[in-house]
Amino acid sequence: MTHDIAAAEFAPRRITVIGCGYLGAVHAAAMATLGHDVLGFDIDTDKIALLEKAETPFYEPGLESLLTEALATGRLRFTTSYAETAAFGDVHFLCVGTPQSAESNAADLSYVDGAIETLAPLLTRPCLVVGKSTVPVGTAERIRDTLAELSPVGAAVRLAWNPEFLREGFAVTDTLTPDRLVVGVDAQGDADELAALYQPVLIHGMPWVVTDLATAQLVKSAANAFLATKISFINAMAELCEATGADVVALADAIGHDVRIGRKFLQAGLGFGGGCLPKDLRGFMARAEELGVDQALHFLRDVDDINMRRRRRAVEVTTQLLGGSVTGAHIAVLGAAFKPDSDDIRDSPALDVATILHERGAKVRVHDPKALGNARRSRPALSFVDDPIDACRDSDVVLHLTEWKVYRELDPVDLGKIVAHKRILDARNALDSAAYVRAGWDVRALGRPNVNR
Ligand code: UGA
Repeated sequence: MTHDIAAAEFAPRRITVIGCGYLGAVHAAAMATLGHDVLGFDIDTDKIALLEKAETPFYEPGLESLLTEALATGRLRFTTSYAETAAFGDVHFLCVGTPQSAESNAADLSYVDGAIETLAPLLTRPCLVVGKSTVPVGTAERIRDTLAELSPVGAAVRLAWNPEFLREGFAVTDTLTPDRLVVGVDAQGDADELAALYQPVLIHGMPWVVTDLATAQLVKSAANAFLATKISFINAMAELCEATGADVVALADAIGHDVRIGRKFLQAGLGFGGGCLPKDLRGFMARAEELGVDQALHFLRDVDDINMRRRRRAVEVTTQLLGGSVTGAHIAVLGAAFKPDSDDIRDSPALDVATILHERGAKVRVHDPKALGNARRSRPALSFVDDPIDACRDSDVVLHLTEWKVYRELDPVDLGKIVAHKRILDARNALDSAAYVRAGWDVRALGRPNVNR
């Protein structure tokens, strides 16, 4: 049911946030600025030491100032003690990671299970545990039973599910002004408790959606599967465009004018990566198989395949631009993060393309405004430089693989003076290709006709 509950009354609570990664760190700081007393927990002592100084181990615009603001209120503290966490909270938000399992497509739930099994025996008075981690449907019900079994107060420890839809790079805005809040509950009283907790967010008038536990878990999987499908749909159209000489950017603009379709998430290019869409897609398929409804999600296999084909296509076009072989070629790679405004390189399409070209004998130099540290640690065989101009100097081809604003601001005329050959692949369809053509570059893009002609 969707309610308009702008009238709910605010109730400041003692909140804990278990797991202070992207999701948890932002949630903890946001809840403190809203007026709650918050204790952030993580097992990683280094992470907690940084957060206590309003610093983050990852790049997220606006988060350090939100942390500074929250710490200054005196309502935000951090700990590495489960006992302190259990004793403090009336409401415990579970925000630990659920990465893809090393052995299969399924989600690795060991952090979720570890946290619940350690916390539950320490919960000695009635409280509400609220899951925010992305989990396969059915996990919440299992956690609810574990909590009741292991806590000394049994079923007085209640469970709700409150999926999170924040995007990296926009995490602060998405948390303080989300486009909806979804809570899955067993009892209306738990939804009312959460409405009072979220009241300062809800006064902005966004939809408040109350469901059962299963639906709330599925909403998250369905949302990410839909977003991935939308991206792969336009990338499938890019393959058609490449075969026919049509232009996928014009096509996306044209179909995007239909409000039922919409232009968002129709940016064709190198496809999706990151710590969420790829693993959530695979985890969703794995769960459907366990439930005996694998056919229902069979199409997501194609969504995944189309996505991975874009990386191979970028390698193919690069090879064509270089006249048939990449061996010994100097290749400048602009972008290592899985998307701009992030230093996250998990399942990064850009780094995959750079690695394949390196393995085929090219001399690859990678630049990224924020992700160089992470990229260096993860792909030590590649070369990295701190300046995009240094990456491009004397290169035989430039690859634009992550659409950072700083790359759009490069001047094609000036850049043309320092490269060995004026060849560029805009794998994100984000550069001013006409300006590059005017400056004498051989320009290629994914899903677009040869723009030089
Ligand atoms: C995604 C969802 O957008 C969030 O709603 C969700 O909360 C989050 O996963 C999560 O599950 O935690 P995020 O991974 O931060 O957020 O990144 P997106 O902005 O969704 O981008 C994902 C990938 O798709 C990026 O590699 C991006 O370059 C690519 N993309 C996006 C495209 O290739 N084309 C587009 O049109 C849009």
